[in-house]
Amino acid sequence: MSDDSTQDTPAPAQEESAGTAPSRRAVLGWGGAGLALGAAAAGGAALATGGGEDRTVNAAGSGAAVAFHGGHQAGIATPVQDRLHFAAFDVKTKDRAELVRLLKDWTRAAERMCAGREVGEGAISALDAAPPDDTGEALGLKPSRLTLTIGFGPTLFERDGEDRFGLRAARPEALVELPHFPGDNLDPARSGGDLCVQACADDPQVAVHAIRNLARIGFGKVTVRWSQLGFGKTSSTTPDAQTPRNMMGFKDGTRNIAGTDTAKLRKHVWVDGRDEKGAAAWMAGGSYLVARRIRMHIETWDRTSLREQEDVIGRDKGEGAPFGKQKEHDEPLLKAMLPDSHVRLAHPDTNGGAMMLRRGYSFTDGTDGLGRLDAGLFFLAYQRDVRDAFIPVQGRLARKDALMEYLQHVGSGVFAMPPGVVDTGDWWGRGLFEKAADQTDGKGA
Ligand code: HEM
Repeated sequence: MSDDSTQDTPAPAQEESAGTAPSRRAVLGWGGAGLALGAAAAGGAALATGGGEDRTVNAAGSGAAVAFHGGHQAGIATPVQDRLHFAAFDVKTKDRAELVRLLKDWTRAAERMCAGREVGEGAISALDAAPPDDTGEALGLKPSRLTLTIGFGPTLFERDGEDRFGLRAARPEALVELPHFPGDNLDPARSGGDLCVQACADDPQVAVHAIRNLARIGFGKVTVRWSQLGFGKTSSTTPDAQTPRNMMGFKDGTRNIAGTDTAKLRKHVWVDGRDEKGAAAWMAGGSYLVARRIRMHIETWDRTSLREQEDVIGRDKGEGAPFGKQKEHDEPLLKAMLPDSHVRLAHPDTNGGAMMLRRGYSFTDGTDGLGRLDAGLFFLAYQRDVRDAFIPVQGRLARKDALMEYLQHVGSGVFAMPPGVVDTGDWWGRGLFEKAADQTDGKGA
């Protein structure tokens, strides 16, 4: 695991500007039809190695490529893209070696897609007697700041007491199942998963293409357990950007951890080398993700007075200023808010300093058959340890938050997000599988 300090220097060379980012079709054209672009050819500017959270700082253009390689996975501290396709997978194969092969294949495909390139031999360049390697709907589209971020759920390590892949000893202590919170109405069909992949991009078709192609590569080995599309990011990780608004009409992400705030990232988001000992040391440089599908009772909210809406949040709706203050970014004055207001209860001062990096998206999945919008917030939060962050904060919110009257948590997942893939020889989960092999029976990865 590379030292954090090496990743604190912005590395603009790793970014392609919006103006210079190749389109997927153009890349094919440069390579020539039928040419398999190997890993070396794929190692252009966007695939340069090294770098951590800073690799995306200069990638403001929506067409740009975000470097896939680095000490931390992209898609966590990366400036939030506009669109999301999140998928949780169940592993069907019982064969550890087959799972490892899949993770290697996924990594190579992810490298290419994040650089704006097609999977394998492309969508139209291979033999016409066989299905193409790439499904083709992203041809001609820019990389669109696509990031693909993988995670491992508790059931990958152990399910119903069974150590399916010899990984039990390597399960991090921090990868706990979330407790039941008051008001939870979780649908098992929208919860859990052995693996997850978070695809974020500025173009929804690019994000959907990425998940579709990973699912296709995984055919017969994994199945999609559930997935969620998101639009309208509800969090900013870029301090100077305009704060987006959620489906309740409020600015969301004002007091988030910025992707540029190395000190807070180190303290609250990245797993430290000392956090996990022995077989779970592979998590150093990674993070833990909590995903919650939070349905909003939109129609009830829309019939609520502006004053009550603001009381519930603890900020005004227009400017987004905390109660008792004038400007959005003024320091909140907690005692000016009602005791059950969301911001007061979620604020670090109420939670022993706990913080997480929120990276959620709005969703609207049609209506529910009763004429009500099936809409809300797909909450995504990254943290160093869920036992110190999401679990106590959500415990407090679930019991006391006035916002709970307008919400219901209907889906949930918790995942260990490993450190980044450092170069073209590395692959998603290498540390986990190699470490577990060392600790158990020596079965190689
Ligand atoms: C649909 C559900 C939710 C909505 C609509 C919502 C909305 C908001 C809004 C409008 C803010 C103020 C702006 C900001 O600082 O970002 C905020 C802040 C915050 N929310 Fe939520 N939130 C929701 C769920 C959650 C959950 C589940 C958690 C964690 C368990 C959470 C944690 C926080 C935190 C930590 C803050 C910042 C508090 C501060 O430092 O001042 N929120 N939320």
